Amino acid sequence: MGCPDCNGTRSDIAGKASGVVLEIGFGSGYNLPFYKNVKKLYALEPSQEIYDLGKDRVASAALPVEYFKSSAEDIPLPDHSVDDVVSTWVLCSIPDAKKALKEIARILKPSGRFIFVEHGLTQNRFMAMIQRLITPVTSKFTGNCHLDRKIDDLIAESGFRFESLEKFPESGRPLMFSYRGVAVVRLPYSDDRPHGDHGDERAGALEEPELGRAA
Ligand SMILES: C[S@@+](CC[C@H](N)C(=O)[O-])C[C@H]1O[C@@H](n2cnc3c(N)ncnc32)[C@H](O)[C@@H]1O
Repeated sequence: MGCPDCNGTRSDIAGKASGVVLEIGFGSGYNLPFYKNVKKLYALEPSQEIYDLGKDRVASAALPVEYFKSSAEDIPLPDHSVDDVVSTWVLCSIPDAKKALKEIARILKPSGRFIFVEHGLTQNRFMAMIQRLITPVTSKFTGNCHLDRKIDDLIAESGFRFESLEKFPESGRPLMFSYRGVAVVRLPYSDDRPHGDHGDERAGALEEPELGRAA
């Protein structure tokens, strides 16, 4: 996934993020040039080797980047400390994707968003059958990449609701089916304002991020 902007996908996803942001599965930092309103970026990537491939990109980035060598299943950040979480083609390879999504819900502020593009199970029944058949084998030599995860269900079942969700086949790649959108944490308490009503809280976060502070 080292394409510069992947047909505008990276600029769309990273361009939506603002404030203090966590990117899971940061890889070699291909999204870095597309962050426009990000005050600070936490770059979470379990593979130091992959992260190091992007060292020059990090060094020349226009924003401060702090690296966590960690899995998204165990995010080393306090509860409700991050404005947005970004993920580009990562949920396919995390061993326990639901555990990671619950961690994302934990560290997001109530006004926070999970902004993602992922690939997963196709809506074409025949191709979905092929995806399910070959994934146990192909995942062994593609860094645990699963072709057959139903990404929207995983996100919804981990406590999120969608602000937007697009699902579409990738042209010319019948085994690749895209899920792209923005999800917010379903609030367990009465303050279930629509996401857009949290504008002041987000503006405050941009002025002076205070980690560990419950929003
Ligand atoms: C297909 S690459 C995408 C990299 C990057 N997001 C991009 O768009 O270029 C998948 C990335 O997920 C990372 N990854 C694998 N398991 C992970 C985990 N448990 N937690 C977080 N990231 C993980 C891999 O190391 C790899 O960098």
